[in-house]
Amino acid sequence: MTDTPDLSVELGFLRLKNPILAASGTFGCGLEFTPFIDLNELGGFVVKGLYFEPRSGNPPPRLVETAAGLINAIGLQGIGVKHFTETILPQLKDLQTAVLVNICGESEEEYVRVADYLNGHEGIAAYELNISCPNVREGGRCPAQNAESTYSLVRRVKQMSARPILTKLTPNVTDITLIARSAEEAGSDAVCLVNTFLAMAIDIHTRRPKLANIYGGLSGPAIKPIALRMVHQTAAVLSIPVIGMGGIMSAADVVEFLLAGASAVQVGTANFIQPDILPQIVEDLRRFLVKNNIKQITDLVGGIKSP
Ligand SMILES: Cc1cc2nc3c(=O)[nH]c(=O)nc-3n(C[C@H](O)[C@H](O)[C@H](O)COP(=O)(O)O)c2cc1C
Repeated sequence: MTDTPDLSVELGFLRLKNPILAASGTFGCGLEFTPFIDLNELGGFVVKGLYFEPRSGNPPPRLVETAAGLINAIGLQGIGVKHFTETILPQLKDLQTAVLVNICGESEEEYVRVADYLNGHEGIAAYELNISCPNVREGGRCPAQNAESTYSLVRRVKQMSARPILTKLTPNVTDITLIARSAEEAGSDAVCLVNTFLAMAIDIHTRRPKLANIYGGLSGPAIKPIALRMVHQTAAVLSIPVIGMGGIMSAADVVEFLLAGASAVQVGTANFIQPDILPQIVEDLRRFLVKNNIKQITDLVGGIKSP
């Protein structure tokens, strides 16, 4: 039996102490969770999406619970880069965990402007390019629905970025592998998938949509099997690491994503249900490895067997 399995993962451009990251938009800037958990127990966390300027997002109602998930239409409310670097980042500098920043933009120029501004500040491990939010443009459209716009945007940011780039993909496409390949060819250091699924809910009494935005993005346990399938398909064709997410609620879910080919995972909606769930998942993963006599968590990556 192995008593102290190695949970660390090497992404090539970044080493994580374990494969568990908190997903952007569900974890604030990390500090909100310090009453519940020790952030140093995480592999890392991705802060809420940042445009250059602060944004108020969409009008309410912006959240609806469903049978097995959450539909959000927050619309990338955010504090903007200056507030982040001046007041938040200094408070994160002593953490022994990876801090990733989720970057947003109305245009390619804005993504570049945000990255350029952040390049001048210490304490950020990597940028996650959010080109996949379904809640900011009409009909849920986003750059990650098109291979050419994905390539162009990732390439531009990669050329000027002082840090590794992770490209966050949308599941709202016919073939996610085409977009993932574009991101890789453009120089992305990793891809993260999935963002939320375009969805809606209707109040049968008022006959109105439950969200002011009409459509929102579905996350949580309902999407896990579809996210898992997309991670499996993508990991099969890329050489860069795939970071998987979508409905992860437990260590068993994490193991599934790793077996499907993810090198690390992100956990989002689960943080709303149980704010101390992340260290618990890390601990349960450790137990799983011990029980199954697995010495290194990386032995699980891509370990799915034939049917
Ligand atoms: C309320 C909410 C806000 C989110 N905000 C962002 C965001 O700012 N940037 C981003 O890339 N993804 C955002 N996401 C998507 C999550 O990071 C994640 O991709 C998605 O929720 C699927 O994971 P989950 O099922 O574990 O929540 C948000 C999700 C939720 C529920």
